[in-house]
Amino acid sequence: MAKPLLAGNWKMHGTAQSAATLAGQIADCAAEAPDIILLPSFVCIPAVIAELAARTNISVGAQNLCQHAQGAYTGEVCAQMLADLGCSHVLVGHSERRALFAENNQLVAEKFAAAQSTGLTPILCVGETLTERQKGLRLQVVKEQITAVVDLVGLQNVCRAVIAYEPVWAIGTGETATPEQAQEVHAYIRAQLGEQGIPTPLLYGGSVKADNAAALFAQPDIDGGLVGGASLEAEQFLNIAQQMVEQK
Ligand code: 13P
Repeated sequence: MAKPLLAGNWKMHGTAQSAATLAGQIADCAAEAPDIILLPSFVCIPAVIAELAARTNISVGAQNLCQHAQGAYTGEVCAQMLADLGCSHVLVGHSERRALFAENNQLVAEKFAAAQSTGLTPILCVGETLTERQKGLRLQVVKEQITAVVDLVGLQNVCRAVIAYEPVWAIGTGETATPEQAQEVHAYIRAQLGEQGIPTPLLYGGSVKADNAAALFAQPDIDGGLVGGASLEAEQFLNIAQQMVEQK
């Protein structure tokens, strides 16, 4: 069983000051919480890390990185820059990156490799669109998204990461996967990873809120959550953390 983990993806919200304030509010009350990862925008990361200095169970990560180690890639941010700031994690393959910024499975795999080669833990996001689900392709899509990364870095390295199942149709829509729908895909991912001796945390994401968190976290293959909207408010996020503590 992987350790319970709750990640907050703040997406493109906040300023350095508001992000630091939110991080501080979460840290003030997070003593009893599971391991928490906060994912502010790039420019807010230093302020959040400074705010969290010397506080324990909260890590900080980024929402994206460049697949290249360095060079003439205007506007990009590489893994080493994130590691230097003190990040421990980075999202790769979030559905918004896949859909809005044309990230395909190959690019996502390269970003995953870039993160790991610098010592960052990637949080690999996978999940099907509504059309894919309606066509009965949900498991196949997730399998292909994971296989692309396995083909590049090997199964052992994928197992050392965190995987987040985020059905695209449930992100920011208020429509959560039912606990059964989420559990089905999580169990499938677990089976795909096989027995590597490394318990890979499998997070669910997609409209996780205080009122649906308990039922999701009660599922045997859901080890935690990747929360968007509800992570922007300390009380909501901590409430979700509390539900996790009670279920795990
Ligand atoms: P919401 O919780 O706002 O649906 O966002 C989920 C998400 O995309 C987390 O990465």
